[in-house]
Amino acid sequence: MERKMITTYDLFLSLAKGELKDGESVFLEGWIRGNRDNGNIGFIEFNDGSAFKNVQLVYEKDNPQYDEIAHYKYAASIAVKGNVVLTPANKQPFEIKVSETSLLGDVSEDYPLQKKRHSFEFLRDIAYLRPRANTFNALFRVRNKLAFAIHKFFQEKNFMYVHTPIITTNDAEGAGQCFKVVEDMKDPTGFFNANACLTVSGQLHVEPFALAFRDTYTFGPTFRAEHSNTSRHASEFWMIEPEIAFADLEDNMDLMEEFLKYIINYVLTNCPDEMNFFNTMIEKGVIDKMKHILNSSFKRVTYTEGIEILKKAQENGHKFEYSDIYWGMDLQSEHERYLTEEVVKGPMFLIDFPKEIKSFYMKLNKDGKTVAACDLLVPGVGEICGGSQREENYELLKERMEEQGNKEILEWYLNLRKYGGCIHSGFGLGFDRLLMYITGLSNIRDVQPYPRTPGSIKY
Ligand code: 4AD
Ligand code: MG
Repeated sequence: MERKMITTYDLFLSLAKGELKDGESVFLEGWIRGNRDNGNIGFIEFNDGSAFKNVQLVYEKDNPQYDEIAHYKYAASIAVKGNVVLTPANKQPFEIKVSETSLLGDVSEDYPLQKKRHSFEFLRDIAYLRPRANTFNALFRVRNKLAFAIHKFFQEKNFMYVHTPIITTNDAEGAGQCFKVVEDMKDPTGFFNANACLTVSGQLHVEPFALAFRDTYTFGPTFRAEHSNTSRHASEFWMIEPEIAFADLEDNMDLMEEFLKYIINYVLTNCPDEMNFFNTMIEKGVIDKMKHILNSSFKRVTYTEGIEILKKAQENGHKFEYSDIYWGMDLQSEHERYLTEEVVKGPMFLIDFPKEIKSFYMKLNKDGKTVAACDLLVPGVGEICGGSQREENYELLKERMEEQGNKEILEWYLNLRKYGGCIHSGFGLGFDRLLMYITGLSNIRDVQPYPRTPGSIKY
């Protein structure tokens, strides 16, 4: 068979442009997602990976290979020569009449997937075959487009993309959740002549770039040795961290809101088939939920107001599992979700947190008790994004760093405050949590290609 480079994506594109011709000859290579025949005519649901939707292949009794094709198994890879048949009246607007096929890769009896719905738990255990399942076919396409949309948004705004390091000596969040990087267990600091770990955030390394290039961002993998075994925590996840100079907390929240709306709109526009799938199969109404976000302005509520609301709710009979609610506490996911789901009923910023529960680099507010931080909370997930105005005052930051005990190791970071410093702000958006929100998938393990969580690193 001669090879003509064509994919099902090309066919759908050409159809959309009105250029797909009846009778057009095609050569395709891909996988069988379904094969049934009634003795005279057979249908293959065919997918070559280039498009979410399957293409229907039709083989008829006059095809000399009929019996052979009828025995092709689910998931086998095949090459197909055939002709386009336009079927505008049918559910699928075209099909391919098969003239010749060859089996490229057969499927053995122990193939674990079947043409039926499998549980997410089962699929997690076969992560190397998961991309073939419908949900994951849709998910990884959205993941891809979302990553592109992120770069597109920032590049269109003239932000500078910075590659911050993955191996570092500092715990940017100061929360003690770093994975150590050790080459020789007998000499743990030998290789770098320092304590090295995997980065928990690119923020501290991107700040110096914001103080030279004004609008910057980093977008890469981050790592946290958190022992919390929840559906929203992963040991490895991706984070988007813009850092902007001459910008305060308000500017920061404006950017976050504009950014979120842009990328959600991009996915709605560019992944309609995938989003329809999620809307029908995973979370009914997720498309409307996303559209609603585009048209709403995110409410801004202070931490202090938030605590008052939670206390009131409790007085009025709402049961929180974690019931000890007081000013100064770190909010649990159930509290965040109550605020965003029951009170605001949409995305909201919680701002001005007690300084004791937030990171050392956040700007101290005039009250001396709270810091200029903002967490973006969304229904179904809770916190997806955290940011702050950074402390630009040398003395105040020095004090916080002395308390934290990281002044020695981060002297360079402190120095930025005396070498032409300026007010600046930034945030970190958890890419994987954002994907959960957009697709309605409720476990972070199901939005990552190869999730890493405590006790789990099979692939
Ligand atoms: O709130 P976090 O810890 O903020 C920072 O790391 C700042 N340095 C960001 C900045 O200002 N540049 O993390 C930011 C986001 C969270 O809102 C959450 O979405 C996500 O990262 N995140 C996680 N996602 C998955 N698994 C985990 N273990 C996560 N921890 C944080
Ligand atoms: Mg946070």
